[in-house]
Amino acid sequence: MVPNALSFLTYRRWTAEVKGLDAFPRDQWPDNIPLLYFSYHIMVGLGTILLAVLALSVWLLARGRLYANRAALWLLLLMTPFPYIATTAGWITAEVGRQPWVIYGVMRTAAGISPRVSSGNGLFTLLGFMGLYTDILSPVWPAVLTPAPKPYSRQAGRRYVLRMARRDAAERFSACRYRYSPSGYSPG
Ligand code: HEM
Repeated sequence: MVPNALSFLTYRRWTAEVKGLDAFPRDQWPDNIPLLYFSYHIMVGLGTILLAVLALSVWLLARGRLYANRAALWLLLLMTPFPYIATTAGWITAEVGRQPWVIYGVMRTAAGISPRVSSGNGLFTLLGFMGLYTDILSPVWPAVLTPAPKPYSRQAGRRYVLRMARRDAAERFSACRYRYSPSGYSPG
């Protein structure tokens, strides 16, 4: 734990007092504290993992070793769901954490319902949006459903990836030499 860090993060002042939940009356607490706690920790945990994998990938990429590193490529592929989960967890954090207020200190969520809008109206709107987004996405579906071209053998695929990685590294190297060498660009 870093002393005073939360004060700074919350109020941009190292000495500000951050109040705990027990400083508020119970009827002003969010009603699902465990959900709030875990959604926040899932978001931050995934964020930390994503940053670590990003740092590792940038490090490998800068050395021209990322494309030939099977483990790193698998790791990157397996990370695909994490941003979606973190985004959903972050959204749950924001929505659960602001309860019971719809406008903080002014209007409670319970006072924000629309008695004239039935749940059927809500469902109808939701279905409408789902249809709309499916429609907007339709040009993307053919690309998503087309399988990527397969290398004709695993060996050839590996050779190809290695060649590309070497070429990438060589290009970076000569670009540096071009910039810094007084005698100018000399390939190879
Ligand atoms: C790495 C550490 C992270 C920290 C410290 C952090 C911090 C926070 C905090 C404090 C909130 C609540 C804001 C509020 O309503 O007062 C929040 C909301 C949110 N976070 Fe994170 N977050 C992190 C990572 C992530 C990641 C990786 C994602 C997604 C890829 C994410 C997505 C969101 C979303 C979507 C919200 C809701 C925004 C809203 O509806 O107002 N967060 N985050």
